[in-house]
Amino acid sequence: MSGVLVVGGTGTTGRRVVTSLRERGAAVRVATRTPADGNPEHVRFDWGAPDTHGQAMAGVDRIYLIAPNGVAEPGPPVDRFLAEARRAGVRRVVLLSSSAVPEGTSGLGALPGLVRAAMPEWCVLRPSWFMQNFVGEHPVAAGVREHGEIVTATGRGRVGFVDAGDIAEVAVRALLDPVPHNTDHVVTGPEALSYAEAAAVISGVTGRTVRHRAVSTAEMTARFAATGMPPEYAAMLAGLDEDIRHGAEDRVSPVVPTVTGRPARSFTAFVSAHRNAFT
Ligand SMILES: NC(=O)c1ccc[n+]([C@@H]2O[C@H](COP(=O)([O-])OP(=O)(O)OC[C@H]3O[C@@H](n4cnc5c(N)ncnc54)[C@H](OP(=O)(O)O)[C@@H]3O)[C@@H](O)[C@H]2O)c1
Repeated sequence: MSGVLVVGGTGTTGRRVVTSLRERGAAVRVATRTPADGNPEHVRFDWGAPDTHGQAMAGVDRIYLIAPNGVAEPGPPVDRFLAEARRAGVRRVVLLSSSAVPEGTSGLGALPGLVRAAMPEWCVLRPSWFMQNFVGEHPVAAGVREHGEIVTATGRGRVGFVDAGDIAEVAVRALLDPVPHNTDHVVTGPEALSYAEAAAVISGVTGRTVRHRAVSTAEMTARFAATGMPPEYAAMLAGLDEDIRHGAEDRVSPVVPTVTGRPARSFTAFVSAHRNAFT
């Protein structure tokens, strides 16, 4: 093995992948639009500047891949990227997809098929919703911090919230294991919770009352659109809430313990470790 290029290597999952690869002694290259001066691991990579791709992938044989952010049709640029990677000697790609993205021929749904077709060794990660959405910049986190409220159109539907650290551990096994996984992994936490149940966990751990307010899909679309999102994108996001309301994410998979050999982190453990982020 020569090295791993981590696309999105400064992001929520990617930076955890980088840390874990480093701990295992793998040669890591962190793809970023803004490489830090003097950091030999950093390499400039911008989806919008294809001339940065060749240098970023030179000398690596594996890639952790996240889709271009906010691009309506990521298929064509990802297809070109994969073809260039294959020519450069890359054999294995681990793609971060999502449990909420159905396989398809357009949008994010096209990417798993492209990776399977391009690479002899591959893995598609299909995580459920990240626990990290409750902290940091995500709208769910802002609602908790600013109003003690989580507003969704998910009703009583449950979600197998998963820690980004667990996703990264599965990704690292898929990148480094001698035998390629060549499969899709649905990655969840150890339990499925409704947003009301998640709010109750946050209240119980932090002592600050947090509530879930269930709204209709139409109201959720309007709320997303009011933040400046294009209407179609707002409707698509609200539609994902509706899918949750109908049970699409109400499942728990054994992938984290099976692949990593340790249990998936619980939501209570996550909230306890981040208790200051909720106030
Ligand atoms: N949040 C959830 O609940 C959830 C659930 C399932 C799946 N997902 C999937 O997770 C993916 C996002 O992964 P993540 O959360 O690990 O990433 P993230 O935290 O959203 O990080 C974004 C990364 O993308 C890089 N980036 C942004 N624009 C770029 C560009 N033009 N060219 C190259 N790099 C660029 C950033 O690097 P620099 O800024 O350093 O350039 C950063 O490393 C999405 O595809 C989403 O569908 C999310």
